[in-house]
Amino acid sequence: MDKFLITGGHPLEGRVPISGAKNAALPAMAAALLTQKRVILRNVPRVRDIGTMRSLLDELGVDSSVTHEEHGNRVEIEARRLLNPMAPYELVKQMRASILVLGPLVARFGQARVSLPGGCAIGARPVNLHIKGLEKLGASIHIEHGYIEARAEHLKGSVFTFDVVSVTGTENLMMAAALSDGETVLENAAREPEVVNLADLLIKMGARIEGAGSDEIRIQGVSELGGTEHTIIPDRIEAGTFLVAAAITGGHLVLDGVNSAHLTAVINKLTEAGAQITEAGPDKLEASAGHEIRAVDVTTREYPGFATDMQAQYMALMTQAEGSSLITETIFENRFLHALELTRMGADITVNGRRAVVRGRTSLSGAKVQASDLRASASLVLAGLAAQGETLIDRVYHIDRGYERIEEKLSRLGAKIHRVFE
Ligand code: UD1
Repeated sequence: MDKFLITGGHPLEGRVPISGAKNAALPAMAAALLTQKRVILRNVPRVRDIGTMRSLLDELGVDSSVTHEEHGNRVEIEARRLLNPMAPYELVKQMRASILVLGPLVARFGQARVSLPGGCAIGARPVNLHIKGLEKLGASIHIEHGYIEARAEHLKGSVFTFDVVSVTGTENLMMAAALSDGETVLENAAREPEVVNLADLLIKMGARIEGAGSDEIRIQGVSELGGTEHTIIPDRIEAGTFLVAAAITGGHLVLDGVNSAHLTAVINKLTEAGAQITEAGPDKLEASAGHEIRAVDVTTREYPGFATDMQAQYMALMTQAEGSSLITETIFENRFLHALELTRMGADITVNGRRAVVRGRTSLSGAKVQASDLRASASLVLAGLAAQGETLIDRVYHIDRGYERIEEKLSRLGAKIHRVFE
């Protein structure tokens, strides 16, 4: 398993291109199942989860091809037919977002067999709302041998209220409703930019959707969708991670190809903590560390709140802040695994349920640490960049799932980071 070897203490300087959002590209690839025509996606990030989604499409008998372009990859998908409506456990366990094929498969082909994801490092993460929502649209669903078996002659529009705001749940039902009979209203829907990007794609394919980006989405079903071309939005979590990298190393970065409107909560929080962040052009952000980093509490929330996917990186920064900060995680119940690893590097963090108190400023020292999930690994990289001496991070396949060649991007900014192949 590959590792990262980082020698800390070097301020990052320079320009860094931000890739397309993995969490927008994955539902867009699933949406291509809704039509037999060709869907072309641009600015798709070169990350492992995209490869996993292509393997899943391949498993279903759907052709896809990838071309390297200046800004990310161009992915073409043509779902003319379906050989096998099954998402196997082996792929779903690698990537929970595989559940995104459930809605499109049932809506277009009338059947799907998708493995239940099971537990994952950051909590139970059930998919009950995906199932309840599809049942509300008229699908009949059974759980058998660890698989969700779904069937429907014709899905019918309905009103569905999410008990809990779910990003992929909203995306799954929006895709299914696009090919249902009549009107569907999704209440308490997720407002994330990735949901809006998916709605934009579906509308280009011929879907009738209003309200994406608000908590009520209205979809008038149509009988057929067509092909189109669509560009994936910039990755706001990758951008946020580089903003923290500038602050934690005392460096100065320009981020190219960002949408700063998607980053408001993160920019506000980092600015409150003392970082200097300014818009340097229509799609550019400039970030540097201020005089000192201050401890500022944070609570994760659904968009437009502070993203849970930025919590681990923010915790790494708070180890370098003057004073104590309280970090409250409201989205996932077990998302502090990075705290223990940060403690091994010298951080002073106490975790109690969904709250963590970080006492700063502690000087971090390089250590052997282990990545537990995608964003936790990003926080360990950030801590390693700020630490004295060498940090060896094991299980970096987690970071490869969602960050495009992070060690190359960081090296170009002056970081001492190497991938160690084993
Ligand atoms: C998506 C993102 C992930 C991010 C998360 C929260 C993708 C591919 N992944 O994950 O990076 O961390 O949003 O912003 O876009 N829940 C239920 N029942 C369900 C579904 C969800 O109880 O059927 C709960 C979850 O356990 C969690 C909360 O809802 O507590 C939010 O999860 P959800 O928004 O569904 O996360 P994902 O869509 O899996």
